[in-house]
Order: sequence, then structure tokens, then C-alpha cells
Amino acid sequence: MIEIRNLVVEIEGQRILDGLNLTVRDGEVAAIMGPNGSGKSTLSYVVAGKEDYEVLDGELLLDGQNLLEMNPDARAAAGVFLAFQYPLEIPGVGTMTFLKAAMNAQRRSRGEAELATADFMKRVNAAAESLGISKDMLKRALNVGFSGGEKKRMEILQMALLQPSFCILDETDSGLDIDALRIVSEGVNALRDPKRSFLVITHYQRLLNHIVPDTVHVMAKGRIVKSGGKELALELEANGYADYRDMAA
Ligand SMILES: Nc1ncnc2c1ncn2[C@@H]1O[C@H](COP(=O)(O)OP(=O)(O)O)[C@@H](O)[C@H]1O
Ligand SMILES: [Mg+2]
Repeated sequence: MIEIRNLVVEIEGQRILDGLNLTVRDGEVAAIMGPNGSGKSTLSYVVAGKEDYEVLDGELLLDGQNLLEMNPDARAAAGVFLAFQYPLEIPGVGTMTFLKAAMNAQRRSRGEAELATADFMKRVNAAAESLGISKDMLKRALNVGFSGGEKKRMEILQMALLQPSFCILDETDSGLDIDALRIVSEGVNALRDPKRSFLVITHYQRLLNHIVPDTVHVMAKGRIVKSGGKELALELEANGYADYRDMAA
């Protein structure tokens, strides 16, 4: 379970999150929707522990552990995973090398033995196949020359391998065609688990037809201004965000 209480965050003196409250229970898929610039990506970065953000107030707890006191590696080891809105291209780092390093770093921090190469290969190949990721893609440098959809699928592959307890997907649907959207959504749905929670950030209701959320939250001006069930996403699609912009003012 992730508990965010009264989170206040600034960057370069500008307040981006302004007393944000949100709880995502074990097994829950929570969607966050909201206009551009409302702070959705900032929230995902702050949970993952990216630097540059000044946390002025509030609490951030994963299963009762205080994430704010942990560096990004420790947060990842504790089970936080962020699928980026814009996955980075990393020339010179082979995709397989990266995946193996990520898995082994996590295992080490949990006091588990490193994976044997054959075991690692078996896991990667099985996950890659179900996500439509070709052997050729796996041989390239991480994300280099991947299409937008391929990058997003690579994010889901990492998620499948790392088996995190709290997954944040930041606009995973942007730049995806219908087929890629279906593959990515199926990948996410396959990972739904009573012990895992998801925060799905999206602009459009479309994604939520594929990844059906338990709860929907509207974010405006750095706060959650309304929460409801999946019907709230349909209402937003019909009416836009205008009502909520006013609420946050
Ligand atoms: N590095 C930064 N420096 C200054 N302002 C930033 C920075 N990153 C984000 N912001 C501002 O924070 C606000 C929220 O941005 P963001 O979290 O990306 O919103 P969203 O993902 O909801 O579109 C925006 O007004 C944006 O301009
Ligand atoms: Mg964003």
C-alpha cells in the first residue's frame, strides 16, 4: 500500500505539488487524470526519488516504509517502479546487460543470490515474447532506435522482470498505436496481483478501457481534487477538466 499525505513539493521555488493526498491499496489500480502541467509527472518522479525536487512537507509511505528517507536505488529495491513518460535512450549500454544489472541489483539488495545466466535468459525471453519484443531489439543498446511503442513495451518488460510492488505508469499510452496499446495493457493486466498496486497516469479514457482501474483521481494544480470509480473517467472524457481547474484555484 502506498500512502501519500499532504505532499508539498517545489522546484526552483515554484510550488508544483500543493498538499497532495492519495492512498493506493494493495491490489488496487488507481488512475490519475488531469490537465497538462497539473503535476502528474512530478508526482511520479518524487515517488521514484528523482533529485531536483524539494519536498517541503508531507509523508510518502510504501507498506509503512518512509520513502522520503531512501535514495532512488533503495526505493527501487523496496518495490517502487516508474515507467517513464519519455524513456531515455542509453547508447553504449546493451539492453540485456541493463536488464541483468537491474535484476541483480534488486536481488542483491534483498539478500538474494544473483541469477544464473540461463535462468535470466529464460525469464527475459518469456517476458519479451509475450510483449512482442523481438530478439533483435534485445540485442540493441537500451532504447536506441526504438520506436515510441517499442520503448513503452521495454518499460513493461522491465516491470515484468523486476516484479515491483508499486508500479507507476506515466502516460504509457502516449505515442502508442492501437496494437501496441493492447500489448502494453495486456502486459500490465498480467501483472495485476492482490499484493501489487498501480498508479496509471493518463490523459485519455481510452487506456482505461484496456486497464480497467479500481479508482480514478483527478489532479489539478498539484492536488487530488476529486476521486471516484471508473465512471469518473467517462465523465471527464465527456466534460473535460474545466470544472476541476476551478476547484483547485
Ligand atoms: N524542471 C522544472 N523546472 C521548473 N518547472 C518545472 C520543472 N518540471 C516541471 N515543472 C513545472 O511543473 C508543472 C507540472 O509539470 P508536470 O509534473 O510535468 O505536469 P503533468 O505531468 O501533469 O503535465 C508544470 O507547470 C511544469 O512547467
Ligand atoms: Mg506528465
